[in-house]
Amino acid sequence: MLLSEQTYKKIDREVAKFPPDQKQSAVMAALQIAQDETRWLPPEVMQDIADYLGMPAIAVQEVATFYNMYNTKPVGKYKISVCTNLPCQLSGGEKAAHYLKHKLGIDYRETTDDDLFTLVEGECMGACGDAPVMLVNNKRMCSFMSDDKIDALVEELKK
Ligand code: FES
Repeated sequence: MLLSEQTYKKIDREVAKFPPDQKQSAVMAALQIAQDETRWLPPEVMQDIADYLGMPAIAVQEVATFYNMYNTKPVGKYKISVCTNLPCQLSGGEKAAHYLKHKLGIDYRETTDDDLFTLVEGECMGACGDAPVMLVNNKRMCSFMSDDKIDALVEELKK
């Protein structure tokens, strides 16, 4: 068993939402729960999820590599996804991304030396009216990201 007992319990709760012969329907939730513990999804974790749900490892990999919320490479403690789609780009997104990159000293798909931050490009998060939009660890949406708000976010996450 690669993951903690608590993580398997959470996965069990997702599995219980489906008929017993449809355990694999919980694969997306299971990957997210596993990633919450391991931060990213190395092949052995994907294999573990596959075994746990009784499905081929390749099918788990297909899901994990299709959606950008899954980290198939190591990431820092905080993965900040910057929306790079057109509405955000037209409303200060590019400037905000440039400011954040400069502040952290990294480019997209890079991680800071202290392993705290990874920056990635994100697709539209359905909040175009709140541009520029950023998402922390797939869960926390940050809207209207001015330079001041970026400063405050980074400082808060560093604590
Ligand atoms: S384009 Fe950025 S949230 Fe829609």
